[in-house]
Order: sequence, then structure tokens, then C-alpha cells
Amino acid sequence: MSGASPVSLERQGDIGVITVNYPPVNALGPGVAEGIKDCLARGNTDPAIKGMILRGAGRSFIAGADIRGFGTNRPRLPLGQRVYDVLDASAKPVLAAIHGYALGGGLEIAMACHYRLALPSAKVGLPEVLIGILPGGGGTQRLPRLVGPKAALDMIVTGRHVPAREARTLGIIDELLPDNANLLEGAIAWLIRLLAVRPLPRVRDRAVKLADPDIFDAMRKSIARRARNQKAPYYCIDAVEASTVLPFDEGCRREADLFKELENSAEARALRYAFFIEREVTRLPDIPATTPVRDFTTAAVVGAGTMGGGIAMSFADSGYPVKILDATQEALDRGMQRIRDNYATSVRRGSLAEDEMQRRLARIQPVADYVDIRDCDLVIEAVFEEMDVKKPIFAKLDEVMKPGALLFSNTSALDIDQLAEMTKRPKDVAGTHFFSPANVMKLLEVVRGKASSPETLATAMAMGRKIGKLSAMAGNTDGFVANRSRAPFNTEMVILLEEGCLPEQVDKVMVDFGYPMGPFAVGDLAGLDIGYASRKRRAAENPNFRKQPIPDRLVEMGRFGQKTGAGWYHYETGDRTPHPDPDVAEIIKEVAAGLGIPRREFTDQEILQRLLFASVNEACKILEEGKAYRPSDIDVMWLHGFGFPRYRGGLFFWADGIGVRSVYNQIAAWHQQYGERWAPSRLLRELAEAGTSFREAKAAAFVP
Ligand code: 3HC
Repeated sequence: MSGASPVSLERQGDIGVITVNYPPVNALGPGVAEGIKDCLARGNTDPAIKGMILRGAGRSFIAGADIRGFGTNRPRLPLGQRVYDVLDASAKPVLAAIHGYALGGGLEIAMACHYRLALPSAKVGLPEVLIGILPGGGGTQRLPRLVGPKAALDMIVTGRHVPAREARTLGIIDELLPDNANLLEGAIAWLIRLLAVRPLPRVRDRAVKLADPDIFDAMRKSIARRARNQKAPYYCIDAVEASTVLPFDEGCRREADLFKELENSAEARALRYAFFIEREVTRLPDIPATTPVRDFTTAAVVGAGTMGGGIAMSFADSGYPVKILDATQEALDRGMQRIRDNYATSVRRGSLAEDEMQRRLARIQPVADYVDIRDCDLVIEAVFEEMDVKKPIFAKLDEVMKPGALLFSNTSALDIDQLAEMTKRPKDVAGTHFFSPANVMKLLEVVRGKASSPETLATAMAMGRKIGKLSAMAGNTDGFVANRSRAPFNTEMVILLEEGCLPEQVDKVMVDFGYPMGPFAVGDLAGLDIGYASRKRRAAENPNFRKQPIPDRLVEMGRFGQKTGAGWYHYETGDRTPHPDPDVAEIIKEVAAGLGIPRREFTDQEILQRLLFASVNEACKILEEGKAYRPSDIDVMWLHGFGFPRYRGGLFFWADGIGVRSVYNQIAAWHQQYGERWAPSRLLRELAEAGTSFREAKAAAFVP
């Protein structure tokens, strides 16, 4: 190998230490697998070396195959010659010394070693399913041999990261070092004790113990809803099942065949895209990565309503003490009760341990006075969505909060500059828009005001990451980026009702497409009264605002959604199942007749495209106005703010699958048919003319 190889071999006494050094996470990029093979061969021919340790430099063991290499024509070695195939054929023992992550191909390499030793902080897993493929380095055959088919199935189908202690219990790891041990020293000492052991233990030689052959069908059934429209989870099951009926090498061939089929599937391409754009969204092209980020240890939330409570939970869930303030004791008590109820539901469902719930609750301190939050490092205002309510709160926060504290607003649409103007520190003000339910949804839209300083924005982005969110930057425009791009979808879904659809029909199309819930059912969950208030505001501000008489009627009848037992659907007491409601169908028909709109039939495709194309067009306008950095940021927002199916990549990625010209032609046709609301954006027209994909579209320079 040349000196530039990312893998090196050095001898420490009797032990050859093979180190993979391919920053940042030691993915199996060009030269890595070859380098390991080469070092292994050299270690085997060096008479001074009695055994070898394979380890990663930097923060991880090996994070898996290089995802950038999938779907390219990068040459691959045939089965039998890959690093996964040759490691355990080594005549000298090889031990994988694991810290950080051993994921995907990284864990597959470790399982092909004779021994595995780890630090307790390490995590292992086979997350390939999350990028639409299956473990293709023997993982589906070795893991069942190590931990049994049931545990292997769980790990491979969920893709979850397994902490080292659990991995030790399962049998993936042979030995755990103490917490602060030196990994290399510990590994050498351990291997020296095993140098004489023969035959060398090989996972491939173990038998698979299948206690219950029904686990495979049971798993297929249990994922049916979650994995609809996807192949990878099912192929993962098929491959693990193969391990129980085929000899090792044949099982690997089966795995390789299934892998090949998935690698370039639409879902794998979309999921790889999602993986990379989620990382890109954190980069702010016009704010240097070196911008100082203010540290925070304490946070405050003003407003103990549903959003405020969810935001406070997000901090508490990530280990931060948080104070929650409301105007009255009753509001505080109600808010705290809601938080306790939410946690109790998680405990009941088994997703949260009782003692962890207590720890989280202890981090949330209800307070009744502004002086109690003055020393917090940052505060998030989450009160009622009215400018006149929020403005005095910003003036008050400016007055009480210590110098240097950051003032954020959870507004979902209001002008952040007007709030900043209420303070003498507009540079310390930004929007931090959480999505409902705030403790669950991953998106945090950071809204940049005219005066927001780079430090404030970088801190808001970092704050999101620290509390487990994905932060994405948005310009200050009505509805910001996520809700603004979604708004035409919301309008269109109601217009579809006027023209002949029913809520349950539209919901079914969107659930079939891959949304966890249909948009009307989501409306009932969130509360129809919320949209009502913002429609009134927009109608007052904009004479061309498209009125929505059907939902207005429902709200005026007191049908607010689940909380009143009726909305777009009706609900039985204590049950969240939406039931189609003939009364709603009647109202829809009445309103449509009043508007003079004839009712007609719709195909599923027309429903889907009417909703999503409307948003594609608006998203283009957002880019054209420089309110978002990149098309892919909008895709991230759709994936994490609105439950857009991840295996479809995002709004623009999906639209690219149809083709920019087809999208443009359809929108232009609807412009003729329905008028101005479908006027194609300039950017869309230009992309169509140039044949440039949405993903390659260039946004205008960012305008706060
Ligand atoms: N391939 C290529 N690049 C990768 C990568 C991979 N497997 N894993 C991480 N990276 C890159 C990221 O894109 C990012 O690049 P950037 O700095 O240019 O944005 C950089 O490494 C750091 O990654 P993160 O920001 O995600 O770092 P974290 O510390 O937050 O997370 C991690 C680390 C948990 C390892 C996370 O990166 C991760 O989950 N990686 C993917 C792991 C994976 O899916 N492995 C399986 C790959 S498929 C496979 O192995 C097939 C085999 O069966 C044949």
C-alpha cells in the first residue's frame, strides 16, 4: 500500500495494530476495506506478529460502508474476496476494539473478526434499513448466529443503535472494558491472553438456533403499516430467515442478491438523499462555521399551553433544567398536569421508564413571576399567536432578562422583526418555531430577523441540536418556510371538498402515499380553531385571500376537532378513531351548492398532485425570494415538520421523480383552469425551460 492509505499496521510487541484513519467517522471509503485486507495479509506474514487488533482512529470504530458510494459504479469485489469474507479466515486471531460507533459494514467487519471488545460508551447496530438497503456484508447471516434470529431480526428491521452493555448481554460483544479504560491497552492485554486459543472462533461456524419459526411472519405483520410502500424492511426479514435455512455461504449469496435489488431502488435513493440533506441543512452558507455559539445551561419557556409544555419537555428530555412561566397559577397547574399526563402516557406505553420520567419532571420548574426566569441563558416565548399578546411580553423580557440572554419566539407566522423592535437588543432575538407536538416533532425552524446576529442564529441552531431537533434556517416571511410552503396544500385540500371530494377520500390518498395520518385527521388532532384564527388574520391583511367557508362553518358550529368530539370526523368518547360523518358531507354539499361549484369525481393521482404541486409552486417562490437557502432545506422541513414519507425524500425530491417539465405543464394547465392561485412561479418556469431539476435549483441570496 502507498503511504497515503487510510489504514496502517504497526507492531506493539506480539500484536499487530491495524488502525483505520478515515475521518470523520471511518466510513469504508475508497481504500479503507482494501487497506484492512492489505494490513491483515501483512500481519499474517510477519512472524513477529502473533495476533491483530483492528481499531478506528478518532471518534469511532467504523461507521459503515461509504453511503456516497452507493448507486455509483464503484467497483466491488466478488463474494469470497471482500473484507467481510477474509477476516475470519486469518490464521492469526483478530480482535475488533470498538469505541464510538460500529455500524453497518463496521459491525459486519467486527463480526467477521474472531473477538470483539468495546468501551461501555460504544454503540453498535445494523442501520442499513434506514437507508433503504439491508446489511450486505454478511450481517444478516452472522448476527443471527451471534444473538439468535429474534434479536437479530429486531436489530436489523429497526436499524436501532444498541448500547455496548446491551450488546454484551446479547452476545455481540465478548468483553467490555471499564468506563475510562484505555481501549488499545485493554485490547492488547485481552488478546495476549487468547493468543494460543485454537481453533479460532468464527461466527460463521456457529449454528442458528431458531426457537420459533413464526417470528418472521409475525414481524412481517407487525411492520405492515409502518413499512407500507417499502421493500427494504421485508428484504431484511427475508435475509435473516435465509440464515435459518441456508448454510452460511449460501445465505451470504442470498443476502447479496437481495442487496443488489435494493441498492438502486427508489426508496434507497430517497433515503440516502434524506441522510445527506439532514446534515447539509445545518450548514449556513452566509454564517461562518467558526461563529461563536453561546453556551446555555438553563432555559425558560413563557406560556404553559400545549406548545410551551412540549417545548419545556424537549429541554427536560435532553437533560436541561427549564423554567416554565405563565400568567396565572391555574394556567401553570393545567400546563404541568398536561406535561405529567404526556409523560405518564409514554410510561404506560413502555417507551419511558418511571424513574426517567421522574428525573425529567424534576427538571421542569413552574414559576409565576418574570424575576424567576431572569437568570436563564435563553427564553422561548410560546404564548397565544397574536402580535398584540406577544409584543408586551417581548418588552417585558427585554426588561427582566440578564444581559446576553437570548430571546426567542415560537411564533409560527408572525413578523419576528416587530417583536425584536420591542427590545433594546434586537440582535439577540430570533424565531424558534417548533412543530406540534413539540416534544415529538424533530423540526426546529430557526427564523432569522433583520437584526438577528450571526451568534444568535448559530446558538439557536445549536440549541435545536442539543435538544434533539433538526434545525433549519428560514427567512422572515408570513408562515416562514415550512408553513408557507405547506399553506397552498391546506387551501387546496379544502377546495377539493368544494369540488367533489370528501375528507376521508383525501385522507386515504395521503395515507396510501405514506403519511402517517391524512391531513383532515391531522387537522382534527391539532384543533380546527387554530387555522380559523390565522385565516381571519390573513383575510383581514389580504383582500385576495382565498376564503374557506367549509372549515369556517365547522368551527362556527363548535366542531373544533378531537377535543370537541367532532371536526372533519366525529369521535366516540375516549376514542381517537376518526369516523366519517354524514353531517360533514351534508355541510360540504351545501356550501359547494351555495358557491355554485358542480361536484365531480377525482382520481387518487389528481388529489395527490393538486395538494403537493400547489406546495411545490409555493416552495419555488420561497427560493426565488431568498427566504430559504436550498431546495433540500425545504425537503428536510417537510420530512420532519409534516410527516412527509421519508422514503420519498421530500417535496422536491418527489417532484423531481415526476419531472420538472411535467410538474410545470400541469401547474400551467391548472392556472388556465382555476386562475391566479395556480400561476406558476418564475423559478418553476425557468427550471422547466432549462430542464433543471428542483434539487439543483439555486435560491436567490438569503433575505432575512
Ligand atoms: N458514509 C459516508 N459518510 C458518512 C457516513 C457513511 N456511512 N456516516 C457518516 N458520514 C458523514 C456524514 O455525512 C457527515 O459528513 P459531513 O460532515 O460532510 O456532513 C460526517 O460523516 C459526520 O456524520 P454525522 O454528522 O452524522 O456525525 P454524528 O456524530 O452525528 O453521527 C453516525 C455519527 C452515528 C455514525 C452517523 O453519521 C450515522 O448514522 N452514519 C451512518 C451509519 C450507517 O448508516 N451505516 C451503514 C452504512 S450502509 C452499510 O454499511 C452497508 C453494508 O452493509 C455493506
